[in-house]
Amino acid sequence: MPETMNAVVVSAHGGPENLEFRRVARPAPEAGQVLVKLSVAGVNYLDVAQRNGATALQAPFCAGVEGVGVIAALGTEVTGFAEGQRVGWLAGGQGSFSEFTVVEAPQVVAIPEGIDDFTAVAALMQGFTAHYLSHDTYALGPDDTVLIHAAAGGVGQWLTQMARLKGARVIGTVSTKAKEDVALANGAAHVIGYEGFADKVRELTGGEGASVVYDGVGKSTFAESLRALRIRGMLVAIGAASGPIPPLDVNSLAGLGSLAVTRPTVIHHVRTAEEISRRASEVFGWIASGAISVPPVTHYDITEVVQAFTALESRRTTGKLVLVHPRS
Ligand SMILES: NC(=O)c1ccc[n+]([C@@H]2O[C@H](COP(=O)([O-])OP(=O)(O)OC[C@H]3O[C@@H](n4cnc5c(N)ncnc54)[C@H](OP(=O)(O)O)[C@@H]3O)[C@@H](O)[C@H]2O)c1
Repeated sequence: MPETMNAVVVSAHGGPENLEFRRVARPAPEAGQVLVKLSVAGVNYLDVAQRNGATALQAPFCAGVEGVGVIAALGTEVTGFAEGQRVGWLAGGQGSFSEFTVVEAPQVVAIPEGIDDFTAVAALMQGFTAHYLSHDTYALGPDDTVLIHAAAGGVGQWLTQMARLKGARVIGTVSTKAKEDVALANGAAHVIGYEGFADKVRELTGGEGASVVYDGVGKSTFAESLRALRIRGMLVAIGAASGPIPPLDVNSLAGLGSLAVTRPTVIHHVRTAEEISRRASEVFGWIASGAISVPPVTHYDITEVVQAFTALESRRTTGKLVLVHPRS
């Protein structure tokens, strides 16, 4: 009989009610993979997209894409890691809400001493995403005014702090007064509501517009985000928390000011061990030095996975949501 483990399985595409606890076969690491016993797992919009059927992943599948744990076994051809080592990942480890998962070795992140599991998992998806968005997709600098939607959210808080580290001025959108306070505490210079945000950005930039807009809200903001940009500005569409981004007529970008639009994903920015290690060194370095404060982490027992999804999708959260696996 093969060994089994507890897993959270998406039985069919749809809402959180389609998350089921099941016993499934424990995976074994193949060449180039490590087997990890989970300690904590992050809950992300990518999990929502997979569950809803917005990605290519076919149901049923083991849910969870991000986690931190201890290496239980190494596949052949894996070098640079050891059994018992504490590691994390935000890609290459599908099934992270299970007790064990296999992770592709190039995607494994070594967690430095002094960074606990909760801090580490909070830094992976949202911290690494903010890193590539502020350094690679658009290299922010002191001359930039940037509009960050959902500035009090998980990515929003990291991105605001990184933009400030690079000297940029941040305008953030939020939906409530409590979230306004969170965005200001992270260093946003101006925090505004969603109503008429493009006009407000123009007012705050002397009519010029923002150099870049980071838009993870999608359906309800996308068209207006284009109108918040300066000539030759860039719209970085990072997600769709409010629903799918509407189709775009590329020809319209000329009339709107020779704009650039990109739709990047973190998966293509953590492809090699070198890239992972460069981002990890900066992100964990800023945490250790105090240059960046890690947004608050809300813990859920793994048995509360449905509650965690419901909280994320109902717009109630401001930081990282983490599922805690039982210790054994
Ligand atoms: N492309 C990438 O590489 C990448 C990587 C990670 C995450 N993401 C994306 O980045 C975005 C933020 O992710 P996150 O994990 O940090 O989540 P989050 O920002 O903590 O949560 C989403 C936020 O979006 C705002 N929002 C506006 N309209 C909404 C609606 N109708 N329903 C739900 N939320 C709405 C809410 O903030 P307010 O209430 O203040 O409006 C909400 O808190 C998501 O779109 C996610 O898919 C992209």
